[in-house]
Amino acid sequence: MVEVLRPDTAGLQIAARILRTGGVVGMPTETVYGLAANALDPDAIARIFAIKGRPADNPLIVHLASTDELGRVVAEVTPLAARLAHHFWPGPLTLVLEAGPAVPSITTGGLATVAVRVPDHPVAAALLDAFGGPLAAPSANRSGRPSPTTAAHVVADLGSDLAVVLDGGACPVGVESTVVDARGTVPVVLREGSIAHEDLGVVTASADASPQASPHLGASPGTRYRHYTPRCEVELVAGGAGPARAAALSAEGRRVGLVATAAAPDGVIEVARYLDVSGLAQQLYAALRDAELADVEVLVVESVPEVGVGRAVMDRLRRAAA
Ligand code: TXA
Ligand code: MG
Repeated sequence: MVEVLRPDTAGLQIAARILRTGGVVGMPTETVYGLAANALDPDAIARIFAIKGRPADNPLIVHLASTDELGRVVAEVTPLAARLAHHFWPGPLTLVLEAGPAVPSITTGGLATVAVRVPDHPVAAALLDAFGGPLAAPSANRSGRPSPTTAAHVVADLGSDLAVVLDGGACPVGVESTVVDARGTVPVVLREGSIAHEDLGVVTASADASPQASPHLGASPGTRYRHYTPRCEVELVAGGAGPARAAALSAEGRRVGLVATAAAPDGVIEVARYLDVSGLAQQLYAALRDAELADVEVLVVESVPEVGVGRAVMDRLRRAAA
């Protein structure tokens, strides 16, 4: 049975000891909770795949304590990667680069590349320091479930298969990192995430080398799998149209939940209410889980503009609604 640990010195030491003996621990990051293990130990990584029920060809993200450690896991730091790392790390940007020889192929799902990031969360940083090496960590949900943004979500999904989760509270960002192929001269976005396409442009010198949406968006293996599947129906409506649509569905006798900027009308469960798009991002996965717990049949969610983190939010909402 899982133990939820406070991330104090004692808790961090227990977690680091588990990691050093090839075990797996739940770890908060600024985006979502991760399921962490020694990135360089194939047996430890095999445990992550088993616990998550994750397909073997879906590679993991390797987390580093600092940019200085990049050389331990990649074969080459391209000039583009160096600029992106300098600008965005620590933070929710994952760089795909040619893998170094120390990284076992189980970590990379058999690919010649490895995905790496330096997380911007005090508990993740402290755990990386205490462990003293790279930690592979996928989101700590069971495969096909929404990513966890609290320790309680990790317990709900993986509690029976995990010894320890460090409790860092609710994740401040709430959606996963942006995954970028940084092997070339322009960043190619492989997975939408909390760092906006528009913001990646700050590191490119000339206007014509602006970041492009990948022609093969979906080249990140994980985006092929069905994801973010709540147990209730999710209906996406236009911005502002949520309360009226929710009221109409409720009048048909359905058990309806609402995620919107406005209050829920009578008879509708207010699952989440937010001020702006980053507030929605922060609450999104919790809202999907809360809707299930409230036995909501239809969750009405308002669309947001596809700029900034809104792009990732809409990507996740479309998958949930599919
Ligand atoms: O914010 C995050 O990225 C969180 C926290 C825990 O760091 N992690 C996370 O990991 O979302 P996961 O495993 O749920 O998603 C990793 C994504 C998957 O879509 C995977 O296919 C992709 O990154 N990925 C990993 N290695 C890759 C590689 N070498 N080439 C392309 N995509 C890769
Ligand atoms: Mg995931």
